[in-house]
Amino acid sequence: MIKISPSILSADFANLQRDIQRIETADYVHVDVMDGLFVPNLSIGIPVTSSIRKVTDMPLDVHLMIDRPVRYVERFCDAGADIVTCHVEADTEENTREALRKIHAKGKKAGVVVKPKTPASAVLPFIDEADIILVMTVEPGFGGQKFMADMMPKVSQIRQYIDAMHPACELEVDGGVDSQTAKLCIAAGANVLVAGSAVYGAEDIPARIKELRG
Ligand code: DX5
Ligand code: ZN
Repeated sequence: MIKISPSILSADFANLQRDIQRIETADYVHVDVMDGLFVPNLSIGIPVTSSIRKVTDMPLDVHLMIDRPVRYVERFCDAGADIVTCHVEADTEENTREALRKIHAKGKKAGVVVKPKTPASAVLPFIDEADIILVMTVEPGFGGQKFMADMMPKVSQIRQYIDAMHPACELEVDGGVDSQTAKLCIAAGANVLVAGSAVYGAEDIPARIKELRG
């Protein structure tokens, strides 16, 4: 079963509660956290995550696009994140491992993310510990970018690693996912699809979420 994680980066931040209610047929709420350093954009952080927690029972899938996330992961867990993902490019292997350990110690799910230029093999040191691996299909930082179909071999490669080494691990893709590109992601082995503009730009959001599931 394919899960959909709509990105609230495409929601109206002045009406977040309403816009989260609009996606209640989805599986997760994807929360994009940006620090203006790891990525060239700023978005939302801990206080907004806490406020979202109060208005929904949906699992919060928090994507940390921040430098050295090990500094903040516990605070995001306390704010109500259910899944916290950290970029492998954002710190040393040792510190990323420590971030995963801290997230698990809070009883939450932990994962790693790879940017487009990062090879599939970069997830190998974390695959035993990770509950989810996220493959970026755009350069992180902004919604509404064009899907990079050339990331599909990487998704397939990571699917092979997961099947061989940790079958319970989820495989998520993020960036430019719409009703057409979703099919490519599913064919390559992804089971969680993030979609921002494709969901929030839809006339009928529940219908679009259903369509994205394939
Ligand atoms: C990009 C974010 C994505 C983004 C997806 O840095 O991580 O989650 O919001 O938006 P779309 O689906 O519009 O590409
Ligand atoms: Zn994201």
